Amino acid sequence: MSSQIDHLLNEDRRFAPSAAFAATAVGDADLYARADSDRERFWADQARELLHWHTPFTSVLDWTNPPFAEWFADGELNVAYNCLDRHVEAGNGDRIALLWEGEPGDERRVTYAELTDEVKRVANVLTGLGVGQGDRVAIYLPMIPEAIAAMLAVARVGAIHSVVFGGFSADSLRARIDDAGAKLVITADGGYRKGKVSALKPAVDAALADRNGSGPQETVEHVLVVRRGGNDVEWTEGRDLWWHDVVPAAAAEHEAQAFPAETPLFILYTSGTTGKPKGILHTSGGYLTQAGFTNKVVHDIHPETDVYWCTADIGWITGHTYVTYGPLANGATQVLYEGTPDTPHPGRWWEIVEKYGVTVLYTAPTAIRSFMKIGRTVPQSFDLSSLRLLGSVGEPINPEAWMWYREIIGSDRTPIVDTWWQTETGAIMISALPGVTETKPGSAQVPIPGIAVDVVDEAGEHVGNGNGGLLVITEPWPSMLRGIWGDPDRFVETYWDKFADRGFYFAGDGARLDEDGDVWLLGRVDDVMNVSGHRLSTAEIESALVAHEATAEAAVVGASDETTGQAVVAFVILKQSFLDAHPAEGLATTLRRWVSEQIGPIARPRDIYIVGELPKTRSGKIMRRLLRDVAEGREVGDTTTLADTMVMSTIQAKITT
Ligand code: WTA
Repeated sequence: MSSQIDHLLNEDRRFAPSAAFAATAVGDADLYARADSDRERFWADQARELLHWHTPFTSVLDWTNPPFAEWFADGELNVAYNCLDRHVEAGNGDRIALLWEGEPGDERRVTYAELTDEVKRVANVLTGLGVGQGDRVAIYLPMIPEAIAAMLAVARVGAIHSVVFGGFSADSLRARIDDAGAKLVITADGGYRKGKVSALKPAVDAALADRNGSGPQETVEHVLVVRRGGNDVEWTEGRDLWWHDVVPAAAAEHEAQAFPAETPLFILYTSGTTGKPKGILHTSGGYLTQAGFTNKVVHDIHPETDVYWCTADIGWITGHTYVTYGPLANGATQVLYEGTPDTPHPGRWWEIVEKYGVTVLYTAPTAIRSFMKIGRTVPQSFDLSSLRLLGSVGEPINPEAWMWYREIIGSDRTPIVDTWWQTETGAIMISALPGVTETKPGSAQVPIPGIAVDVVDEAGEHVGNGNGGLLVITEPWPSMLRGIWGDPDRFVETYWDKFADRGFYFAGDGARLDEDGDVWLLGRVDDVMNVSGHRLSTAEIESALVAHEATAEAAVVGASDETTGQAVVAFVILKQSFLDAHPAEGLATTLRRWVSEQIGPIARPRDIYIVGELPKTRSGKIMRRLLRDVAEGREVGDTTTLADTMVMSTIQAKITT
């Protein structure tokens, strides 16, 4: 970390927005002034300007029971109406909402009128299945237009969606279905990934398989299945329904009912410091306000002319806020791509940029670094001149990747917005405004208008410019999480207890303020790893490893990795009883596959080291810091607090031989 900080400290390149960009930019410096003079009024103005309220609100923020906030609580709206019908009613029904590209190269263009029609039908199907206000619906779909339609239809009837990333295993899906008590699952037979059909329905079947009386009672009544992969699937009569049978047959008329602004909109599970994923809860009015506002001013969306593309999967928060809700609330036209960046060739993304004339691209540093590795000739063989703004999200972007992104993808011309936020914050919190801020490679820089953050020490004191500390959010914000599903105590403990006397939200990230007071993010300070921009918990992977019959104990660390930011590295102690009866050969491979099956391929350890002991303090706490030293090939740091100071040399001898 210290070499990283030194490196960042020496970064003095600056990029001011061009006069031409600034002249047409949506966001201007005046936004900061307005927000500073009256923060609540500023957000109320945004909510009124950006959204349609069936019942206007009079109350802006209710913070009388912190940390449980209410925004615009006496107002009523319908989220789907805001993303769809009102654009059609305003005469923009023919505008394309989705420029969808399947991995094999098939395409669909979906207008706002068509998407509205589809969502109305799906809403009628949901009502017919008994899904209504407050019910939970799990969505396990590939990146196809139906995924967006499903989310919006759930929102339209006042139900709550829980989107589960298609790369998660049956076990992970089951845990999420159970925690939320989902009544319906919306899935597909399969979708295209890396040149072939990757099945999804079998994971749903496995998740819902007979539990032999173990586990919580089954809450799922129906499974709605989109045909996409064309692969054979098993069918449970009475439970399973084909989307293409029921959706086109449903009535096309559906009037959007208004719901109170604090109506839950979705639950999204994310990794925390313990083994059990947290169901982050977001509600309607405040979330949609900040989603729409940030997409507009940070991504500089001009709905009539821009072709926007956020490459995130809807299984993550970035896909929720910057694929589904933000751009559709703004009436934007966006690209939706089903597949992987390198299928069938390494220039696939740049081919898509050229084909659709993408103007604004929003992606993750891990993708940029993997393109850097392939080399500039691939993107340079496509016409990328339509691009006028680039965005980055999900992990710290190192200055080299930032410069490559700007020079090679952005022709040394486009502004870059490095946006810091979290599943919990719901929307962008720290970012440059592209027409206003002079940008610095590697720094997310400044809170957006209406947001207040600080970098503090352990006591909650501001660290002052030039110093590092912990990132906190000092004032409530419209799209803040409203809780952890079913666990209000964990919500308070995880985010608010640390700085309870000050009322700060603790983000879990380390950060540094430079001499100008700009924020540089330095990565997580807890046991959460960030692999390819995805959050993974060390504890969750450890508990998957020890669930295998061969494993006695396991410790997992995130080791820095040139491409993925961090990589999962596991240290495992095997059971003697297992070794007595089985050969040890191939076990590391078996365990890697096991983790992939238990959680999903994103959690598969890059390396597994079989060791005899783990470094522990006298109180029995595993010293991950030392394991990280080993995993990153560094000299092992201070071992004096270890119960057995010999352990590290034994581990190192084991790994280097
Ligand atoms: C990290 C993704 C540095 C951070 C939107 C945060 C970042 C976690 C940035 C949230 C950024 C996200 N610079 N770090 N621009 N953006 N992070 O919930 O550690 O998947 O706490 O939300 O990603 O990850 P999550």
